[in-house]
Amino acid sequence: MLEEARRLERFSPPFAFSAFFSPEDTLLCVLAAESALGHLAASVAGGDGREPIRVAELTSGSGLVGLHLLGLDLSARLLGLDIDKEATRVSTRNARLLGVSSRAEFVQSDLWSDGAGELLASAMPQLMVCNPPYIPEPPDGAMEIEAGAGPNGTAHLLRALELTDALQPESLALSWCSVSAPGAIVRDAERKGYRLDTLYLTVIADGEYSGSVHKYLRGLPHAYISEQPDTIAAVAPDESASFAYLLFAGAFSRRKNGDVQAGAAGHVERICSDFARAGVTTLATATGPFALHCSILNRWDELQLRIILHGSVTNQQLPYA
Ligand SMILES: C[S@@+](CC[C@H](N)C(=O)[O-])C[C@H]1O[C@@H](n2cnc3c(N)ncnc32)[C@H](O)[C@@H]1O
Repeated sequence: MLEEARRLERFSPPFAFSAFFSPEDTLLCVLAAESALGHLAASVAGGDGREPIRVAELTSGSGLVGLHLLGLDLSARLLGLDIDKEATRVSTRNARLLGVSSRAEFVQSDLWSDGAGELLASAMPQLMVCNPPYIPEPPDGAMEIEAGAGPNGTAHLLRALELTDALQPESLALSWCSVSAPGAIVRDAERKGYRLDTLYLTVIADGEYSGSVHKYLRGLPHAYISEQPDTIAAVAPDESASFAYLLFAGAFSRRKNGDVQAGAAGHVERICSDFARAGVTTLATATGPFALHCSILNRWDELQLRIILHGSVTNQQLPYA
């Protein structure tokens, strides 16, 4: 997984991050977003005269994923929405640093507000990206609003998929994980008319949650974690973890007439239940009716990822132009 992190080198200081940033899922979402953009570009290919591709990033945080796409497609346009005012300020500044202010707009907006629906309706995105909060919230609701995502951890993604009904984007890039009802996300995307083309998966150690979060996740019917010693040793050789789980990011495309995909959600659930039952080695034989990229990110890799993003203060290559 760390081999993929080279593409994040541009996003070191003065590029800045907002609260609730975790680089692992952002990197995975970048991979899915690249894949979705490639798929979309191929489907709308029309030579020099084609309209600029329109991207919307929901729960955009620093804007990294959408801004990365603007670096890949030099005419694409981006609308980013985040509930956090500071995230909007930071991402707007990041767009300026990258020299893409004229193609990127970030607005403070709650996914559940009417305003978000209206902004998206006028932007008419062809590609929608969402790497949202996905931690299942214990019933006492102890989490800050930006971190938790309802009792199953699926609230934001299901809301993002609800928004696709009105917007009908051609492509989606979504991030989720094995502790937050992973099959439900894929099943809902299928119900909304999308097929999962490419799935990126990485094994990661727990976020050093307190014991109570571990206990809560253990009791959830649709949270899949692995507690096998070999799996924990693979992601946390320093014994700093009590369980491992899977991060996912998927590139989806709108199904065309007659285009069927056999049970992608069931395959994702099987990958998760095999992982929970017998650990990391089960991924060697994991399959599905989609392109599947499996990797591992251990504690040392997590640290190196942070060094790439936060370590250099002499980055001279920021602007795309
Ligand atoms: C895990 S961060 C991810 C940020 C960014 N997508 C990335 O990949 O780096 C989740 C983001 O969701 C935002 N968020 C949480 N609840 C939201 C809501 N109801 N509407 C819009 N954004 C929300 C948070 O403010 C935070 O920036």
